[in-house]
Amino acid sequence: MLEDSKNPYANNGDANAMPATGRPGKRVFIETYGCQMNLADSELMGGILSQEGYTAATSLEESDIILINTCAVREKAEERVFGRLTHLLRFKNENPNLILGVTGCMANHLKKEIVERAPYVDIVAGPDAYRRLPSMMIEAQKEESDPLIDVRLDKEETYGEVAPVRSPGITAWISVQRGCDKFCTFCVVPFTRGRERGVSPEDVIKQCRDVAERGYKEVTLLGQTVNSYKWGDDYDFADLLADIVPIDGIERIRFTSPYPTDFTPKLIETMATHDKICKYLHLPAQSGATSMLNRMKRLYTRDEYDVLVERIRDVIPTIAISTDIIVGFSGETDDEFEETMDLMRKHRFDFGYLFKYSERSLTAAARNMPDDVPDEVKAERLKKIILLQEEISGEVFQTRIGSFQQIMVLGDSRRDDDQLCGRTDDFKMTVCPKPEIDAKPGDLINVQVVDATSHTLIAKLV
Ligand code: 5AD
Repeated sequence: MLEDSKNPYANNGDANAMPATGRPGKRVFIETYGCQMNLADSELMGGILSQEGYTAATSLEESDIILINTCAVREKAEERVFGRLTHLLRFKNENPNLILGVTGCMANHLKKEIVERAPYVDIVAGPDAYRRLPSMMIEAQKEESDPLIDVRLDKEETYGEVAPVRSPGITAWISVQRGCDKFCTFCVVPFTRGRERGVSPEDVIKQCRDVAERGYKEVTLLGQTVNSYKWGDDYDFADLLADIVPIDGIERIRFTSPYPTDFTPKLIETMATHDKICKYLHLPAQSGATSMLNRMKRLYTRDEYDVLVERIRDVIPTIAISTDIIVGFSGETDDEFEETMDLMRKHRFDFGYLFKYSERSLTAAARNMPDDVPDEVKAERLKKIILLQEEISGEVFQTRIGSFQQIMVLGDSRRDDDQLCGRTDDFKMTVCPKPEIDAKPGDLINVQVVDATSHTLIAKLV
């Protein structure tokens, strides 16, 4: 899971990928913050805009339009965007025709604050407004006007047939579901992205075939609670996975993030049956204490989470599992925190994404539950679980020493020109010497692990 990352989208380096018709010369730069869904949404926006003749800018300096695709999940992510907007004012001052837009979750969550704190923003567009971006841009170009705001949520919008302009890389993000119906009390997503809806299986399969033809070797299916995917009465997420398996050219299939109570025995079987479905799961637990899970309105108990992990490991013993944990949510006691530490020790997650609770307006918690764990306590608990997870990850990664793995090449190692990096089937970053015959991103190569840190496997070619 990418957290708060910044990624210029898609073909920033390859403007030719967008047809220069209609509005030749208008160049767009999209900067992405937040989760993989946002990366996928930036690619969607790229697709919608390229249809209208916009091209991708290679730098902020040469842009006619800058869109910041944002995340609202924690306050820190939003503050970062405000900082970024202040920085971008310089470009507005240098080029008065520049259009600056804020898109994504923060547009819905903080529309008022955005126009108050950054009144020079021209466009504020929520996740369901991307089809209207081209007309908003034309409107915004007309004359000095108030910011244009479109944060309408649309329970029908899936962008299913829109062809995204995809980033080069090994994995193609395929959104199979938008929105969320779970309403965890801490989480703003149902308010920023609206109700859950699935993309039709036909559209998903078509997108997978398209990316396979274009040379992608891996697809990652995305949804807020991806395994609650349903189409009609009798077609579920396991069926969707099974239907992607036969697509030639796709070597690996991943998905994120599943929700524990939607993890059916059929889905476990489907994962176990097909080699192409990677043996890695990101399974957010959030807490190890049932009382806390209740307050969070997670729909499972600690015992049920334990049973699920055990069942998955029984059927797929080699599976790697990571999780999300929030510390310091409303009323968290020392005992509840201890139960979270216990959960981590029990399941020995391969890695964890660990957060301090950040109160989000609009949520049930913000309305009804005090943010009453002092920040020092949150910080101390976070530090404790980070240390614990580091130790566990270190031990888990050590157990891979000596094993044979097939890695999918990502590219050159950042640290050493003679090395390349790739990922194992179970999502572990691996570095190894470059083979004599050049290995391209997406190639699968066989290696043996010779050493490990708590984040990386070090391997040799075999
Ligand atoms: N505060 C802290 N972390 C949060 N997450 C979601 N909402 C909040 C919040 N208000 C975390 C959860 C989720 C991940 C994407 O972000 O752990 O699984």
